[in-house]
Amino acid sequence: MAFVSNDEINAIRAKANIVNIVGSYIPLTQRGKNYVCVCPFHDDHSPSMSVSEEKQIYKCFSCGATGNVFTFVSEFENVSFIEAVSIVANKCGMELSKNAYISNFTPAFSEEKEIMELSQKFFANNLRTSVGEVAINYLKERGIDEEIIKEFGIGLSLDSNDSLYNLLIKKNYDSKKLLEIGLVNSVNGKIYDMFSRRITFPLWDKDGNIVGFSARVYRGEKDVSKYMNSRESKIFKKGETLYNYHNAKTIAKREKEIIVVEGFMDAIRIASIGLKNVVALQGTAMTNEQIQLLKKLRVKVILCLDNDNAGLTATLNNGEELVKNDIETFVIRLSGKKDPDEYILANGGESFIHNVNNPLTFFEFKMNYLKQNKDLNNVEDLTNYINDVLKNLSNNGDSILREVTLNKLSKDYDISLDVLKSRLEQMKPVEIKKFEEIPKQEKQKKDAYTIGSEKILYFMMNGEEYIKNYQKRLGFFSESLYRELANEIVYFWEKNKKITIADFITYVTDNVTIKDKVMEIVNESINDEITIEAMDEYISAVLKIVTKNEIKRLKSIMKKELDVDKKMKIALQIAELKKEEV
Ligand code: UTP
Ligand code: MN
Repeated sequence: MAFVSNDEINAIRAKANIVNIVGSYIPLTQRGKNYVCVCPFHDDHSPSMSVSEEKQIYKCFSCGATGNVFTFVSEFENVSFIEAVSIVANKCGMELSKNAYISNFTPAFSEEKEIMELSQKFFANNLRTSVGEVAINYLKERGIDEEIIKEFGIGLSLDSNDSLYNLLIKKNYDSKKLLEIGLVNSVNGKIYDMFSRRITFPLWDKDGNIVGFSARVYRGEKDVSKYMNSRESKIFKKGETLYNYHNAKTIAKREKEIIVVEGFMDAIRIASIGLKNVVALQGTAMTNEQIQLLKKLRVKVILCLDNDNAGLTATLNNGEELVKNDIETFVIRLSGKKDPDEYILANGGESFIHNVNNPLTFFEFKMNYLKQNKDLNNVEDLTNYINDVLKNLSNNGDSILREVTLNKLSKDYDISLDVLKSRLEQMKPVEIKKFEEIPKQEKQKKDAYTIGSEKILYFMMNGEEYIKNYQKRLGFFSESLYRELANEIVYFWEKNKKITIADFITYVTDNVTIKDKVMEIVNESINDEITIEAMDEYISAVLKIVTKNEIKRLKSIMKKELDVDKKMKIALQIAELKKEEV
C-alpha cells in the first residue's frame, strides 16, 4: 500500500475546486458569492445546500450536512475518506494509488495501524509454513479455499517459539502499546501472545483498517473458548464495527440491499457464493452505531440471523430498531440448519440465494410470529392477535401498510373496517412520524459560554492571527472537548504553518468526536464575519463567565471555611476577581 501524507492530501484539496466537484454530481446555481443546490443527503425539495467557493466548504441549511470536498464525495459515493481523496485527485487530473492509505491523519494512531498490518502479514504467512498445513486442512474441510483465505486475510497464530511478540519487539515496538491494542497479554509480569495456535481472522473498522483479530481453535480442543477476540481498545470498538462493512458497502449500494448475519463465518460463506453485500454483527444484538452504519447506505436491510431462539428474538428486536430508524427491513428465516454457513454447506448456494430473493418484510415476519401458538378459531386468541397487530400498526409510519393490513384483517376475520379503524385510532400513542419526513434535530439552546467558546474555536480555524489572539487573550478552555479541539487547531497550524477550515476538516476526519463538533461549529458560524474585533467580543464574554464561575466557586468554599485567616485570604481573592469583572 502506498502512503499518502497530509501534505499531499492538502495539495489535492487546494487544486480541486469544490464548486466543480460538487457540480459534477448535482447541478449548481450561483447565488451571490455562493452556489446553491438540492441537498443530496436528505429528501430535499428546494435547494437547501450552499457551496462556498471562497471557503471551499458546503453546508445544508435543512439537514445540517457540512464538510469539505472530500467529505462530500465520501458521503455522496459512500466510500471511505481515502477513496474519496483518490476520486477527487482523478477528477482534477492528479494521480493517487488505488490502495493508498493515510498514515499521519490522526498522528496518534498511525503506529497502531502499522503494527496491525504487520501482525496480519505475519499470521497470513504462518499458514504457509509446515505447521500451517493442519490449519489449511481444517479450512479446506470447512469448504474455505485459497481464494477465500486471501480475500478475508485468514491466518494462523503459532506457539511461543514463533510468537508475534518476538517479532514486534525485534522491530522495536513498545510492549505497552502491544498490550494496549490487545495483541499480547501479561501474566505475572511475563508477556505472551494473545492468540496462540488459533486460526486468525482480521477485524476491520468501517474504513478497512485492521483494528483487531478474532481467532478460532481448529484442532478439536476442548475446555477453551471457540473464539478469542481482541479486547476493546482505542482503535477497536466492538459496537462500532460490522464485520466486512468496508468491502460490502459499495456492492450493497449497487445491489440496493445488504444482508446482515450473526457470525463472521456466515458472512465469509455468503460472500464465497458471490453475495458480497453481507456484514456480520459478531453477536446477536445490534448497537446504535451499527444501525447508523447501515442507515448511511440507504439500502434495504435483510436480517438473516441464526436458526435458534436467540436468533429469533434478535430478529424481532433488531428489526424493530431498524424500522424505527426508517430503514426498509426484510427477514429471512432459514430452517433445518443452525446458521447460514451450515445451511449453505448443506443445501447449496442456489437455495440460499432463493431465500435472499424472497424475503418477508419485517412487518409480515412479525405478523406471522404473532400468529404462532395461537388458535385463530378461538375467540380469545383471535382478539389477542388482532390487538397485537393493531398495536404494531400504530407504531408504524407507513400509511399504505396500515390501510392494506386493516383491509386484510377485516376481510380475513370478518370484522368491520370501521371498528378496526377506531380501535387503531384509540391506540395511537404519539403522532406517527411519516417516512419521508427527516427528523428535525431538536436543537438544544446553547448557553452563552458554549456559544462564545464555539465561536472562538471557529475564528481559530480561520487563520493564524485568530490563533495568536486566542493564545494571547484566553489560552485555555476548561471544557475538555473544547480544550482538545483548541489543541488540535494549534497543532495543525504549527505543523502546516497555515490553516483553513477546509484543510482542518480533512485533518480531523478520523476523530469522530472532534469531527462532529467541528462540523457543528462550522455549520453554525459559516456566515459570520471574521474580524479580530468580533472575536474579541466573544473572548470577553467567555472570560466574564469564567470569572463569574470562579467567584461563585470561591464563595462556596469561603462559606464552609472555618479558619478565619484562610477565610480572609479567599475574600481577598474574590475582591480581586470582582475588579476584573468590570
Ligand atoms: P457461533 O457459535 O454461532 O459461531 O457464534 P459460528 O459463527 O457458528 O462459528 P463456527 O461456525 O463454529 O466457526 C457467533 C459469533 O459469536 C462470537 C463470534 O463472533 C461468532 O462469530 N463467539 C462465539 C465468540 O466471540 N466466542 C465464542 O467462543 C463463540
Ligand atoms: Mn457456524
